[in-house]
Amino acid sequence: MKKRLFSAVQPSGNLHLGNYLGAIKQWVTLQEDYEAIFCVVDLHAITVPQDPATLRKKTLEIVKMYLAAGINPEKCTLFVQSQVEEHTELAWVLNTISKNGDLTKMTQFKDKSGMDFERIEAELKAALVDIAYESSGVPGRTKDDFRILVMKSGKNIIDIFQTMKEDFNSVGTGLFDYPVLMAADILLYDTTVVPVGKDQMQHIELARTLARRFNERFGETFVVPEGKLSTEGALIMGLDDPSKKMSKSAESVYNSIALTDDAETVRKKIKKAVTDSGSEIVYSDEKPALQNLINIYTLLSGKTKEDVQTMYQDKGYGDFKNDLAEVVVNFLAPFQERLKNISDEEVLEILKAGADKAKRIAEQKMLAVRKNVGFLS
Ligand code: TYM
Repeated sequence: MKKRLFSAVQPSGNLHLGNYLGAIKQWVTLQEDYEAIFCVVDLHAITVPQDPATLRKKTLEIVKMYLAAGINPEKCTLFVQSQVEEHTELAWVLNTISKNGDLTKMTQFKDKSGMDFERIEAELKAALVDIAYESSGVPGRTKDDFRILVMKSGKNIIDIFQTMKEDFNSVGTGLFDYPVLMAADILLYDTTVVPVGKDQMQHIELARTLARRFNERFGETFVVPEGKLSTEGALIMGLDDPSKKMSKSAESVYNSIALTDDAETVRKKIKKAVTDSGSEIVYSDEKPALQNLINIYTLLSGKTKEDVQTMYQDKGYGDFKNDLAEVVVNFLAPFQERLKNISDEEVLEILKAGADKAKRIAEQKMLAVRKNVGFLS
């Protein structure tokens, strides 16, 4: 029996090289050795506002991208999350064993909501230290002086609290709860392996926690899954800032290379990509921007880091970037050609068969969940 694998992408924004190198590229290899299930998670996408027509279009486009990248529906199950209702049902059940404290720790939530309890706590402590420091050891201070001081520094504390309250009140409940739905996606299928980029590992850790917690409380029901990272592709960084991940929601178009970018755009973006000081082409932690570009080069060309270092021993960034642009273009051109030739009808048919197959597994798992939780059958 092959082990089961599950992974997914959200149909929001434009898929970029990070999504491909961090996730989809390894799926193509893994579908040979695992019983693979690949999903397009539209329920996750609506945790931020989506235009309905665009969402429909994007959902189909992501499936086409899976297919163009080499995902083979004969070898795996390919479906859209909202077409298998069990995902939302299990998410609800898992909500009841999730803790807010687990969810407020999630980096993605902190980034998107601006709420970070550790940071807020540190700010509050600093404001209190200010009060204590200012009010200590100054002889002759009156009670009124002290009152003024507390009002002044105390205002700081009230401001911090109010910002936190506003951030909390404005963040969508779905966005907060997002990782629980992701846990449901994974646990519904007795998944053993979840191949993702590094940014998703914390969410997988939560899925593991919830599986264990549920099993302890209601009896063995879920397999505890494991995340699987691709090596150098685990986190592709932004071309405009190597300290941040390449992201669909980045502000600058120069952050990422979309899988639909044409050759001219790719060349322009790579030309503009930031580089490090010095001019040597070496793979080192001291040169994070170059390291990221070399990772992209090696992952798309099949060459090793050592090959690249040798090839550019006597050359500079200009030559390297020109060649990297061609490596990317040579990967994207046939990919985009395949993409263009996949019809909506073909995709809809694959998705229908995929949802039927996924549903059969999901239904069985929900029968067990319902029974173990104590619902009437
Ligand atoms: P999403 O749609 O943000 O990203 C899809 C996949 O791409 C990876 N990725 C990256 N890898 C390397 N470098 C980057 N810069 C980069 N940016 C994104 C992500 O790690 C991911 O593997 N919550 C998930 C979708 C999801 C899911 C699931 C994944 C929902 N349910 C169940 C696995 C299993 C997400 O938003 O991925």
